[in-house]
Amino acid sequence: GGGCGACTVMVSRYNPREKTISHFSANACLLPVCQLHLAAVTTTEGIGSTETRIHPVQERIAKANGSQCGFCTPGMVMSLYALLRNQPQPSLEDIVEALGGNLCRCTGYRPIVDGCKTFCGVRMSVMRHLESLLVDNAGVPELFHEGDLLPQDPTQELIFPPELMLMAESQRPLTQTFCGERITWVSPVTLRELVELKAKHPKAPLVLGNTGVGLEMKFKGILHPVIISPTRVPELYEVNKTPDGVWVGAACSLTSLKTLVEKLVRELHEDQVETFSALLQQLRSLGGQQIRNVASLGGNIASAAPNSDLNPVLAAGRCILSVISKGEQVFNFTHTSQGSSHMSTMGSVEVKRFSVFSSSGEFVRAFRQAPRKANALATVTSGMRVRFAQGTDAVEDLAIFYGGVGPCTVGATKTCREVIGRRWNEETLNEAYRLLLDEISLPPSAPGGKVEFRRSLTLSFLFKFNLQMLQKLNEMVGLTSRSSRSEPSWRWQVRPDCSDKRRLTFGTCRSQEVSQGQRGDDLVGRPVMHRSALSQATGEAVYCDDIAGSQGELFLALVTSTRAHAKLIKIDDGEALKLPGVVDAVTAKDIPGKKFRTFTGIDEELLAENEVTCVGQMVGAVVADTRQHAKQGAAAVKVVYEDLPDRCVLVLLTSQEAIEKKSFFKPQREIERGNVTEGFRKADQMLEGEIRIGGQEHFYMETQSMLVVPSGEEKELKVYLSCQHPTYAQESIAETLGIPSNRVSCHVKRMGGAFGGKVTKTSILASITALAAWKTGQAVRCVLERGDDMLITGARHPVLANYKVGFMNDGRIIAADIQYFTNAGNTGDESILVIEKILLHIDNAYSVPNLRGRATACKTNLPSNTAFRGFGVPQSMLVVESVINDVAMKLGCTAEEIREKNMYKGPSITHYKLQFDPENLLRCWDECLQKADYHSRRTTIAQFNQSNRFKKRGIAVIPIKYGIAFAECFLNQAAALVHIYKDGSVLVSHGGAEMGQGIHTKMQQVASRELRIPVSLIHISETSTNVVPNTCPSAASFGTDANGMAVKMACETLLQRLEPVIREDPKGTWQSWVSWPNVVSLCRGPDTYMDWKKQEGQPYAYFTYGTCCSEVEVDCLTGDYQTLRTDIVMDIGRSINPSIDIGQIEGAFMQGLGLYTMEERKFSPSGMLYPRGPAQYKIPAVCDMPLKFNVYLLAGSSNLHAIYSSKGIGEPVLFLGSSVFFAIKDAVAAARKDVGLGGPFKLDSPACPEETCLACASCFVQMVPVPKPGSFQPWAIDV
Ligand SMILES: Cc1cc2nc3c(=O)[nH]c(=O)nc-3n(C[C@H](O)[C@H](O)[C@H](O)COP(=O)(O)OP(=O)(O)OC[C@H]3O[C@@H](n4cnc5c(N)ncnc54)[C@H](O)[C@@H]3O)c2cc1C
Ligand code: FES
Repeated sequence: GGGCGACTVMVSRYNPREKTISHFSANACLLPVCQLHLAAVTTTEGIGSTETRIHPVQERIAKANGSQCGFCTPGMVMSLYALLRNQPQPSLEDIVEALGGNLCRCTGYRPIVDGCKTFCGVRMSVMRHLESLLVDNAGVPELFHEGDLLPQDPTQELIFPPELMLMAESQRPLTQTFCGERITWVSPVTLRELVELKAKHPKAPLVLGNTGVGLEMKFKGILHPVIISPTRVPELYEVNKTPDGVWVGAACSLTSLKTLVEKLVRELHEDQVETFSALLQQLRSLGGQQIRNVASLGGNIASAAPNSDLNPVLAAGRCILSVISKGEQVFNFTHTSQGSSHMSTMGSVEVKRFSVFSSSGEFVRAFRQAPRKANALATVTSGMRVRFAQGTDAVEDLAIFYGGVGPCTVGATKTCREVIGRRWNEETLNEAYRLLLDEISLPPSAPGGKVEFRRSLTLSFLFKFNLQMLQKLNEMVGLTSRSSRSEPSWRWQVRPDCSDKRRLTFGTCRSQEVSQGQRGDDLVGRPVMHRSALSQATGEAVYCDDIAGSQGELFLALVTSTRAHAKLIKIDDGEALKLPGVVDAVTAKDIPGKKFRTFTGIDEELLAENEVTCVGQMVGAVVADTRQHAKQGAAAVKVVYEDLPDRCVLVLLTSQEAIEKKSFFKPQREIERGNVTEGFRKADQMLEGEIRIGGQEHFYMETQSMLVVPSGEEKELKVYLSCQHPTYAQESIAETLGIPSNRVSCHVKRMGGAFGGKVTKTSILASITALAAWKTGQAVRCVLERGDDMLITGARHPVLANYKVGFMNDGRIIAADIQYFTNAGNTGDESILVIEKILLHIDNAYSVPNLRGRATACKTNLPSNTAFRGFGVPQSMLVVESVINDVAMKLGCTAEEIREKNMYKGPSITHYKLQFDPENLLRCWDECLQKADYHSRRTTIAQFNQSNRFKKRGIAVIPIKYGIAFAECFLNQAAALVHIYKDGSVLVSHGGAEMGQGIHTKMQQVASRELRIPVSLIHISETSTNVVPNTCPSAASFGTDANGMAVKMACETLLQRLEPVIREDPKGTWQSWVSWPNVVSLCRGPDTYMDWKKQEGQPYAYFTYGTCCSEVEVDCLTGDYQTLRTDIVMDIGRSINPSIDIGQIEGAFMQGLGLYTMEERKFSPSGMLYPRGPAQYKIPAVCDMPLKFNVYLLAGSSNLHAIYSSKGIGEPVLFLGSSVFFAIKDAVAAARKDVGLGGPFKLDSPACPEETCLACASCFVQMVPVPKPGSFQPWAIDV
């Protein structure tokens, strides 16, 4: 619904009156096709192809490594393409703005922006050159060469279709009516006709941008039998300037409004444009570019959204609405909310909005705080206006409006009334805060939650307004702030928002050098573009749902439980089966084979049969001829539950509740080294603490997708799916249907992201889809909608941890005891393996002589959680680093000092008795401190914090030691099949699945080196169980290690067989040597093991090390933060492909940043997941990139345990995102110090603006009363 931008297209229109063509980007998912009459729509397929000519935009994003899984790439390409059609040489800020509405879960955005920056022209090249002179990377190759890129030539772009131009010129505008099965679409051409239509169909919505109505129809199932589209009514686009203000047509898009307002601000006197400037500020961060391009001013006003950004400013700015129903009426905008909702019901049409010029002595300001800086609806938003009596600080008029604190825009009329007539000083303001707190109240259970935070924001915004007004008064009448506070007033200075002033700068990401003697066509160690990047950019890459449908193919929609824990009495599909297109329904009773999957000894039902144990549990499925019919069918299935009395059926949602009821999956794990009790006894000081770490939604851009095709012969099934573990899916399907595995072949071409979420859950979904295909005898396709995917498929495990630490006064930690409780949800899945990995990483980089860890997977009534990049390590280590942080705070030193003091040094041994050499860990640490210039920046930050009261900076340096390989030895193996064909071409098949991590590219490089042939001769088609059987999952950062060795061995075997031929004909060519080789090679990986009884083992083949330093600036009044700079030094051995590995590093870092500082999975008290899409669940966007992002690969490292001395990298870096969390904590500590709060404090993850703001404990936070826990039912619970 417009939140991710993956479907971005460019829409072009011809205006016959002005003879102009306009181009703009738009989200295809919200574009009504009826509205596209006479418009040209361009997709990435339309601008270039690998068959003919790729477009420079496609080429540059691909070559800069801006495409990993590629699912977001066509949208990225089209956003940039649309920008270039309007501005052939954009600035970096233009690019960031254009990409603001496009999400990418893989790359971390830096490479995408890098590719796009090449269009910035000469100015940019010079800056880039200057920047490169400043960093010590002379001689190190660049990741891509700008000189090799295709030139941009705007004259070669597609022309607007002349036939559309002719049609637009020649047609007399007539009313258009499109009649569909259920909806009639009417598009009038005059205002009179529009008003008549609206009077005739008062309930029909006026659809302009469709960003409001479209969402309602798509996600809330609202059907509008008549839709009126006023896009061709010219009056609605008119803009008229009068002596008092400007009338703006209601149909004007927010982008055109922004352009208009920018022009007015430039051209008019500054006194007149106060409201325009405030509007401009809101328009810059409202939605993404695609939304602003289509969403209309009238639609925004009329929608009367509780957190509309524009309405509070329009209301504060005394704007006027002109509304027509039977005769024109003019509304004062201060009645915004009533006015607009009234309008919709009484069938009126808003024609224009009148913005009144401000006058001298009058000031208007806008404020907003959102979960993300761009493309996110505000948590609280506000518009404020004050007018001072000439030459004084007496308040003549005051207006304060808020969004996000009620069902519509809310005015603080009482507060304003009290302030009017008084002087603008501290006394008045203090009174205003008190009144405001009383007037703008929210009940503790208010929908949306964050009650304390939202209430504190209403005060903080007024305080910010006050600061700005004091500055204005100072300029106007020389009045200075007469603060009674003891602090100097310069500490209160108003600093502009980060978003306004801060600019992305160039980071450093350089490749490694290869050895001097390496063959030119040997690409190992060189930065090679992802092998599918170009086809992903051109839209040619095939994902599961792109596979063409076959005759009679059916679509599957799931029926899920709406209860967290209840008896399942009946699943009644009678009504569903009567619906048009519905073919059949399946339940557990239809399963011919095994009804459950067993993982680590715990059974998991495929479809609930007698009892449901979470909201979202699958109970059945409906298959129909179309997606829509299947969805309608699933909605019509009636599930009858029996809610048993509380005594019999418990509903446990949180880890805490599970602990109280001892609801655990077995076994619980424990590991100890040394004597912890004795250690505590000897310690100088002790500390205890608790931390919660929230879960994380995978948010792969391609949702779970599969297509099962029965061959109709000998019970064979072909399964095409987006899956990390096709062998597991194959086994699961075979067991479900009671057939041998040899009848099921699973094929994975590529995945649009996976991150651990496409292992077990995909196999279960594939089994249900196969069941439907089996029952109907037809091909069945299942592609989950984002909302269902988020509801059903689980996430990263939330963790509740308690710790106790004993340390000496010099900072040495001598004993620690950490207890982890993961919220596993309603089934075991991989939760036991997750807790094991948690315990194996409780040392991170530190040698603690007495260390104990205990971990338990709690069984609750939430959807079952599953693997996620890092597999428990990111949660495990956040606790460890929090312990370090607390010790540092207690001792009054920096956390970095404590880290250094306790780091492994010299020959070392882990708590599970694995010996290793931490040299590279220490090298990464030292190099990172030096490259990040940590020590001098720490001093600068302290000075900054001294000078600023409400903006604080923080810095943190975090190390990582991450074990690579599966602890279960049998998973560390791989197989490869290499075919050499007679024409010399080579087909490589291996067990790894491509999910954006570039495994196929690396395997191609391996085969090329081993066979000594160019990569162009080598092809990799797909991963399939009928070519390479019994494969292991592509997970644990071990894909390249395992499969690389298998490919290498297969190639070596083939070369050995070719040796005699080559000896006989040494001058021959590759083509002349090859004949019929076809060799299978099985490769066994390292002998890992872990003996949990003895608490020792060799669970990992080796460690990947790294260190990351991040600096942030926090707005203590809103909790907003900006990452100013990040430096990462990683030891990844000798990288096989530095482009891909650096991409993995940056992508994982950003995913970690999301985990620890942004992404919130909120559940209702009845166990229902709230966020079901990008509108509610915020993953990092381009605005969240560190302003300066440097990545360095540790030089001179090697690794005996993996192919070509490389190291696994997919997972480790995710934890380094916590450097941002700890930098925020560092800044918060500085803020707390200012209000007299010293020492350790609790900060749970994610440190979203809410948590950060509350932890800063500003005077405004302290003014908000906190309701007694238990005295109310909260809107959301911490699970
Ligand atoms: C991804 C996303 C992000 C967003 N982010 C923000 C944000 O950050 N801040 C924010 O404020 N908003 C945000 N929005 C909301 C968006 O701004 C509004 O949905 C949009 O402005 C509505 O305009 P529209 O033309 O698309 O309305 P439509 O969907 O076409 O219509 C919406 C409603 O307005 C009525 N209407 C439209 N025009 C008129 C008229 N002339 N007279 C009377 N009634 C009329 C219609 O009858 C309908 O009921 C976001 C929306 C999306 C999808
Ligand atoms: S490459 Fe952007 S989501 Fe995968």
